[in-house]
Amino acid sequence: MSDPREILITSALPYANGPIHIGHLVEYIQTDIWARFQRMRGERCWYVCADDAHGTPIMLKARQEGIAPEDLIARVAAEHQADFADFRVAFDNYHSTHSDENRHYAGLIYARNRDAGHIARRTITQAYDPVELMFLPDRFIIGECPKCGAPAQYGDNCEACGASYSPNELKNPRSAVSGAVPEQRESDHFFFRLADFEAMLRDWTRGGSLQKEVANKLGEWFESGLQEWDISRDAPYFGFEIPDHPGKFFYVWLDAPIGYMASFQNLCDSPRGQAAGLDFHRFWSKDSKAELYHFIGKDIIYFHALFWPAMLDGAGFRVPSAIFAHGFLTVDGAKMSKSRGTFIKARTYLDHLNPEYLRYYFAAKLGPGVDDLDLNLEDFQARVNSDLVGKVVNIASRSAGFITKRFDGRLSATLPDPALFAQFVAAGDSIADAYEQREYSRAVREIMALADRANQYIDEQAPWVLAKQPGREAELQGVCTMGLNLFRLLIGWLRPILPGTAEDSEIFLQAPPLTWAALGEPLLEHLIAPFKPLMTRVEPAQVAALLEASKEDLSHQSVPATDKGEVLVQVDTSAHLLRDPIAATIDYDTFAKVDLRVARILAADLVGGADKLLVLTLDLGGETRQVFAGIREAYNPRDLVGCLTVMVANLAPRKMRFGVSEGMVLAAGPGGKDIFILSPDEGAEPGMKVK
Ligand code: 2FM
Ligand code: ZN
Repeated sequence: MSDPREILITSALPYANGPIHIGHLVEYIQTDIWARFQRMRGERCWYVCADDAHGTPIMLKARQEGIAPEDLIARVAAEHQADFADFRVAFDNYHSTHSDENRHYAGLIYARNRDAGHIARRTITQAYDPVELMFLPDRFIIGECPKCGAPAQYGDNCEACGASYSPNELKNPRSAVSGAVPEQRESDHFFFRLADFEAMLRDWTRGGSLQKEVANKLGEWFESGLQEWDISRDAPYFGFEIPDHPGKFFYVWLDAPIGYMASFQNLCDSPRGQAAGLDFHRFWSKDSKAELYHFIGKDIIYFHALFWPAMLDGAGFRVPSAIFAHGFLTVDGAKMSKSRGTFIKARTYLDHLNPEYLRYYFAAKLGPGVDDLDLNLEDFQARVNSDLVGKVVNIASRSAGFITKRFDGRLSATLPDPALFAQFVAAGDSIADAYEQREYSRAVREIMALADRANQYIDEQAPWVLAKQPGREAELQGVCTMGLNLFRLLIGWLRPILPGTAEDSEIFLQAPPLTWAALGEPLLEHLIAPFKPLMTRVEPAQVAALLEASKEDLSHQSVPATDKGEVLVQVDTSAHLLRDPIAATIDYDTFAKVDLRVARILAADLVGGADKLLVLTLDLGGETRQVFAGIREAYNPRDLVGCLTVMVANLAPRKMRFGVSEGMVLAAGPGGKDIFILSPDEGAEPGMKVK
């Protein structure tokens, strides 16, 4: 026997600012199936992942919630890991990019590339929010589309007409964070010289590490020339400060893939990693014999197939053995839709349906390419019910009852049709090949054809007839033993896809874990446990309830967008929450939680370093609050003293650069000089509730 392969595999790291949804799950399920398959084959396979915890959207979301980014990412990490565990995505390690290991490797990779001359420094001009005192990523600038005039479009492209443009072309641009008109300011940035690696990347691309479609895409990028990549961001930023440049931070996309290394290092250092003799350098050094695979969505190929191998190479590490890209998920032929209820969070799915159904359905549709995958909800129910419940589980239920009732749970000593069993075992090679090539749909097709064959065997042998005929006991026991052994092969081959059902089957068969090698030998003269249904049918009512609950989710909270369309653009999902003049509706209960109060402005002062802000001291009828408001252009602070206004009194305190803001005053108007604090009529008293 040859030595086991050493394999390290990863899935893309989910952003730590939103929940896992079924679109994400395509990838985690695809990767998990591959990892489980490799382990079943006896390979030394390690599957690691982490939360992608840095960047502007995470920083702003934490601010919006009035909590520290560390608290936000800790909460989201717990939610992500619970969702993955319940979908039986079995990582060997789950870590965070906001970790010591990641800080170490990000610093190391940067320093080595810098020392080798692959980092350039240049001054660039960028949009700047004068109220929030921060540079604005393109996705945080909104305005009217320069082509079609559609309002509230992002700084990079128009959702109404599809035009692409640069943020300074937007008409009436505003910061999506504060609403202020952005200014243009200069700042020094650091750039990774990607073109230094063109020869290496061209070689690597030709070396069979990439799917055909991905290699073609790279060909186009080589043709249009490899651009320098901006790897730094200015404070304020939630990330790692660049060691030799205070106030400058690594761009989230620099340290995100390094998170793969960090998670693996964390695994190596764990008791489990140590017991397994894991050694970081054996996997990551230039001469490593280990295999390294990254499963990703097709939208982030540029980062993984160009920047990432180049950064690794420049820092003296090995490059990936291959990148496996997949397509996007549609539901019923369309992009996931919030209003149709097809934007389904992992947790909402789990509240209604068995995770094994979705794992099976995705596997049945997944191929090795980058085609999009459709979850057709009718087909989903039909396939689960007919394939898993109607074919596979049925084989066990048709055979087990007789073994339990008539033979005290004991299987026969020989198989009545060893040739058929051998034929099944031989089919395992082709199924293994399908898994290895990530042709899961082929694996499922072949397994289901064998399930049909097994059911046909039982139909032909008709154990229920044998059971009624005296003297045919041995035949009955043999046929049912044969049926259960065929079932064992089928569920064994399905084990990477259906780990929960396989585990229940191991308990029922009272057999050790179903490895590929163990499947070659039949279970004979063996005691099984009484049969319990291994899987129930999907009922249409469950699917309807899932869609209904997904619609409800939206009235309670925001969900990140799925449209990760743009290569090179990090989708700053929280901008969706900030930009809409009229946001998604809230239900009455949510509205009722807003505590609006009349407040008297006791003092209004300028804020040093923030030329759009005033700090207001408000009297809430006994209680005093400090609130920052972006109204300096509209009001002379002196004129405000003594005025009544309306404030949101129960907004969580928010830490700003200048101090803590303890609420928000309500004002209206287009902005700039035209913002009006509402001054209620006579009769209003500070502290009075606003109905
Ligand atoms: O696109 C995304 O969701 C990113 N968070 C993926 C990062 S993958 C890796 F580079 F970390
Ligand atoms: Zn437009």
